[in-house]
Amino acid sequence: MVQERDDVVGLDSAILMHPKIWEASGHVEGFTDPLVDCRKCKKRWRADHLFESKNLKPDFRPGAMAKHEVKCPECRGDLTDVRKFNLMFETQMGAVEEEGSTLYLRPETCQGIYVNFLNVQQSMRKKLPFGIAQIGKAFRNEITPGHFTFRTREFEQMEQQYFIHPDDKKKVFKMWKEARRQWYLDLGLGKSKLRFREHEKDELAHYAAEAWDIEYDYPGMGFKELAGVHDRGDWDLSRHEKFSGQDLKYFDQEKNEKFTPHIVETSDGADRATLAFLIDAYEEVETRSGGKDAKHEKEVVLRLHKSLAPIKMAILPLSKKEPLQKLSFEIQSELRKHWMTQYDETGSIGKRYRRQDEIGTPYCVTVDFDSLEDKKVTVRDRDTMEQERVSIEELRDYFENKF
Ligand code: GAP
Repeated sequence: MVQERDDVVGLDSAILMHPKIWEASGHVEGFTDPLVDCRKCKKRWRADHLFESKNLKPDFRPGAMAKHEVKCPECRGDLTDVRKFNLMFETQMGAVEEEGSTLYLRPETCQGIYVNFLNVQQSMRKKLPFGIAQIGKAFRNEITPGHFTFRTREFEQMEQQYFIHPDDKKKVFKMWKEARRQWYLDLGLGKSKLRFREHEKDELAHYAAEAWDIEYDYPGMGFKELAGVHDRGDWDLSRHEKFSGQDLKYFDQEKNEKFTPHIVETSDGADRATLAFLIDAYEEVETRSGGKDAKHEKEVVLRLHKSLAPIKMAILPLSKKEPLQKLSFEIQSELRKHWMTQYDETGSIGKRYRRQDEIGTPYCVTVDFDSLEDKKVTVRDRDTMEQERVSIEELRDYFENKF
């Protein structure tokens, strides 16, 4: 998003910002979820999720839960009427708890981009259209966190805001929708596991004029949001302009035109993406290693895309004894300058291969007694299990090509 493009720059903005920012953004007033309490067991639920699970259109009017016979999923107790629940976590600034010192943990990273828009545009000498992207923590007091890391209260967002002339919206929106989907495909997610879904008018967030989710088919959950592409119009910049009194308009010198840029946002969750990558990569196979006498058990292979694999290669000496250990350390100390590596000398070589397969390490480098003589090692490929003899001297070039 940043390194390979000329039109997007990176930013790392603050988590704690002036509380007025969240008034301007509409979050103080509008960033709410519909909440109901069980009158019997006191558990809290998201009303929209309860309607969804019964294939009913959400209805938040007083008496709606009773009317549609929606009960507590846990104890079948009656539910209260729907209340709006603000998802922002609050904290206090300074030592004295006094009015006006309430701060919010950011519920989305993009507001830090909007309030830095002019700083970035001017200091980076950017002309429209251009984008600002950042990765960072976001916090939401979710009523029903769960499904492993799918919904948590602290999560990592990867957001990009693309500032445009409103006339370019259709073209830009289409470009980003496709580019974001392609990013997931390029990193290995199956095509049939991804789909787009447009938000209905009544589910649009307060800032969005149009919104599309990229959904992934999570096991046990079905297609659920993985990422979003949003047309935020001029909502954010015009609101920040109003609340701060700062002119945030852009002047196009060539056209002699001054206007408030519109924004196409791409918003991805690093945690949700990681969950999808893990699920997609996970495979259980019958014993692949150990020859025909091996016990036929299930082995796990995590077929992560090479660029996502946290460890790129493992160095495995066939013996713990000094000459092989020393040579292995030398090999590792060269490779670890460029890639994340692991060293493992415990257990049989088959067991060590399996350990690495389970964490998705694409390559194992086995150092054996011949290595002392011929200065070569055996490189094993996680997916094909093919083994290749490679000279130690050429190992770095070999892996440069592989990655
Ligand atoms: N700035 C727009 C925005 O925040 P969103 O649809 O609310 O839009 C964007 O969130 C992405 O952040 C989602 O597609 C999802 O990947 C991730 N996300 C949102 N809430 C989350 C949560 N509670 N836990 C994990 N990821 C979450």
